[in-house]
Amino acid sequence: MSKVTVVGAGNVGATCANVLAFNEVADEVVMLDVKEGVSEGKAMDMMQTAQLLGFDTTLVGCTNDYAQTADSDVVVITSGIPRKPGMTREELIGVNAGIVKSVAQNVLKFSPNAIIVVISNPMDTMTYLALKSLGLPKNRIIGMGGALDSSRFKYFLSQALGCNANEVEGMVIGGHGDTTMIPLTRFATYKGLPVSNFLSAEKLEEVAKSTMVGGATLTGLLGTSAWYAPGAAGAFVVESIIHNQKKMVPCSVALDGEYGQSDICCGVPVILGRNGIEEIVELPLDAAEKAAFEASAAAVRTVNGALKEVGAL
Ligand SMILES: NC(=O)c1ccc[n+]([C@@H]2O[C@H](COP(=O)([O-])OP(=O)(O)OC[C@H]3O[C@@H](n4cnc5c(N)ncnc54)[C@H](O)[C@@H]3O)[C@@H](O)[C@H]2O)c1
Repeated sequence: MSKVTVVGAGNVGATCANVLAFNEVADEVVMLDVKEGVSEGKAMDMMQTAQLLGFDTTLVGCTNDYAQTADSDVVVITSGIPRKPGMTREELIGVNAGIVKSVAQNVLKFSPNAIIVVISNPMDTMTYLALKSLGLPKNRIIGMGGALDSSRFKYFLSQALGCNANEVEGMVIGGHGDTTMIPLTRFATYKGLPVSNFLSAEKLEEVAKSTMVGGATLTGLLGTSAWYAPGAAGAFVVESIIHNQKKMVPCSVALDGEYGQSDICCGVPVILGRNGIEEIVELPLDAAEKAAFEASAAAVRTVNGALKEVGAL
């Protein structure tokens, strides 16, 4: 019997729960929100698709009732406020820090062994806050950002190559911010060959830039931050954990000397399995990529500094 809780049944949380159920990732998926009746309504709506879509996962919705989340294997935290047009992820810090910390403390009362997947922004800083304030081993605190950014990278690469996104491999590491993420063009492949065999340096630069502002582009179009890909990326991370798939996925994790960094959560490739982070994979970065990672980590560290200013740490 496997159970996943998604806290925050807004755009990202509800999409994540929907994908988890549709793909039968867990036997039970609980959605919890502070908005009276919203989780219950969304759970019932989704359950009414079960026969149409052919899934057997049970969805449960509740309003702030943490007892219903008891014994979850994985808890996904999406609660908080999303970005508005023109707003940076970092500006969200004051509000979301309070929400993420209290939510995580509450879920752990009922699911002391749960693996925590943080999605709320600014995600690297919220993951660091969870790491510092919950006292859990670092393999159980995972920030989701790289799975989404990598999926966007593969989308833009596939658009440039004129192929299906599933034919492309690519990863984005570093902080989950418009200026801090690092699309690893040098490691990206199409049909097993470096993408530089098929695309010019200028085109690859364009792809990397589109990836980096991918979230902001959608926020501009939608008036709020995107949810289909973020929700699906959250479910992708959860699936690798619950089904012990050992997939390599870039996630924001506590670094302890890896990539030359410590006392920070930042995006690097990790192997995700039943224990959460099974392993951190160290890529052989070249000098430019190393410098980009250092700059990215420095930017994340600056935002982390605000946690003390708002009294969250
Ligand atoms: N890491 C990523 O890749 C990524 C991608 C997209 C969005 N996000 C972030 O995810 C978060 C959610 O985005 P969204 O678009 O779903 O927002 P949303 O406003 O649609 O949903 C957020 C939900 O959280 C609920 N909530 C607020 N406080 C709560 C609490 N204390 N307990 C339980 N629920 C609570 C709200 O009622 C709301 O339903 C935002 O912080 C957003 O910036 C992250």
